[in-house]
Amino acid sequence: MSMSGENDVVMPGDNGEKSRYRSAEWYGGSDRNAYLHRAWMRRGLPANAFDGRPHIAIANTASDLSPCNSHFTEVMESVKQGVYEAGGIPVNLPVLSLGETVVKPTAMLWRNMAAMSMEEMFRANPIDGVVLLGACDKTIPALLMAAASVDLPALVVPGGPMLNGSFRGQVLGCGTDVWRLSEEVRAGKLPEDTFLRSESSMIRSRGHCNTMGTASTMSLLAEALGMVLPGLAGTPAPDSRLLESAHESGRLAVEMVKQDRRISTIITRESFTNAIVTLAAIGGSTNAVVHLLAIAGRLGIELSVDDFDRIGGGVPLLVNLQPAGKYLMEDFFRAGGLHAVLGQVRDLLQPEAITVTGRTLVDELASDEIWDADVISSRTVPLQDDAGIAVLHGNLAPLGALVKPAAATPELLTHRGRAVVFESIEDLHARIDDPDLDVDADSVLVLRGCGPRGYPGMPEVANMPLPEKLLKQGVRDMVRVCDGRMSGTAYGTVVLHVAPEAAAGGLLGLVQNGDYIALDVPGRRIDLDVPEDELARRRVSAATQAGFAAPTRGWERLYVDHVMQADTGVDLDFLTGGSGSTVGRESH
Ligand code: FES
Repeated sequence: MSMSGENDVVMPGDNGEKSRYRSAEWYGGSDRNAYLHRAWMRRGLPANAFDGRPHIAIANTASDLSPCNSHFTEVMESVKQGVYEAGGIPVNLPVLSLGETVVKPTAMLWRNMAAMSMEEMFRANPIDGVVLLGACDKTIPALLMAAASVDLPALVVPGGPMLNGSFRGQVLGCGTDVWRLSEEVRAGKLPEDTFLRSESSMIRSRGHCNTMGTASTMSLLAEALGMVLPGLAGTPAPDSRLLESAHESGRLAVEMVKQDRRISTIITRESFTNAIVTLAAIGGSTNAVVHLLAIAGRLGIELSVDDFDRIGGGVPLLVNLQPAGKYLMEDFFRAGGLHAVLGQVRDLLQPEAITVTGRTLVDELASDEIWDADVISSRTVPLQDDAGIAVLHGNLAPLGALVKPAAATPELLTHRGRAVVFESIEDLHARIDDPDLDVDADSVLVLRGCGPRGYPGMPEVANMPLPEKLLKQGVRDMVRVCDGRMSGTAYGTVVLHVAPEAAAGGLLGLVQNGDYIALDVPGRRIDLDVPEDELARRRVSAATQAGFAAPTRGWERLYVDHVMQADTGVDLDFLTGGSGSTVGRESH
């Protein structure tokens, strides 16, 4: 290479073989456009960066406002080293990030926007493969939805959970213990200043929530789908092995491009079966249902909400993690992690489903010992025999509703009670602690207006707080019914994802105070016990009222016009399927 660089012109094909890669459509050739593409990208890159080697984007969700993902800038450096080592060129591609606890009105409103923007940037840029850096709840689903629609070689590097929290000798799990401690304050059992002092002890390191919430669940399910370097998911964020695996993931991304191992060749219906078995065995978040349905929709794979019950039903609960259990993700990893769990349910996994390595998920389970049986149970002594998510139907949820029996009170799984109806989350907050609220322990709390369309964005509000006067009587759980979602870190007898939602004409919108609601989880039903002629009268009356006030502009307008219901994953109707990676036109 000359120091001036003026004679260095190396193009795809100069390494002896004609470039097979997509990036050559930008960088190959000697015309004006190829010049433009190469020249503006060089900025210190050697000329042979454009000789036909794979260009790997690192889709980076690091952001100070997405604190669970803020360490990805360091992780990215390890991925880059791996890409270089394998002969590729890494490029940092910052993408839209979502901090679950800070973005309003709910991160779920922005999941599809993130996925849409990521998809377009993956397609628009000169890249041959992509490493997806995701952690906080919506980031892995959005990255996978986007990558699936473009269908490039891709793999996920999950950012990993934070370390265990600790306060006054007690382990604190983020999320779950916020709900628990705040209920104790409301019940008069914990001074408020003690509650506030625990704040800085709960979140003590980099990483995502350390309970079996949505981020932990989606990281583990991404690996069960085959989209993660085997053994990586669940590695705590501060653990140096995360960087080692990030480096290896960079190397693997280059190999995947060389082998043309695209997402559509990895994720199949069998992969979803493996993910659903995993979801049950780990006692994962109900949020995984809408995320997996949305990813399947992008790939054109038939998957229904009922598959979660059919495939997950009878799978034993093997992981003793909050919110349903005791431990946290740091303990889970120490106890053997995902592979220890999958080793116990190996016979339920689809043996032909492959991973990013090209080998099958089952073949990758070389090390599946359980190192702490109190954290991860063996199949012979499960924590529960049946850990699946129950999918309910009935007149209140003809398209389906979910309940997570593992997080519910067993006595409430068959229950009939009078409805106490709240029109919105604001209505709930205004009245739930009213001493005159007509409610008792047998009542069924109903919260509507929280679906994809109605809120809009389907927030995590289904785990309604219990009325203060009942908490003080010692009541700790009640049947709750909502068209919204629930934090994966929450618990209780909560029927959620009711579809269709109230704002889309669901019967939930017609429930009145005092109506009886019958929940029958063993029979998989939830019904409003009101005569049909009375429901018909209410429908006519509802049709004459003002109804749903749609947003008038921006993303929210687009969202409510096109969002689908929970039973199909809450994606936008025009984003299902994919457009592939081809871009037919030039910019100049
Ligand atoms: Fe980011 Fe829980 S807030 S994972």
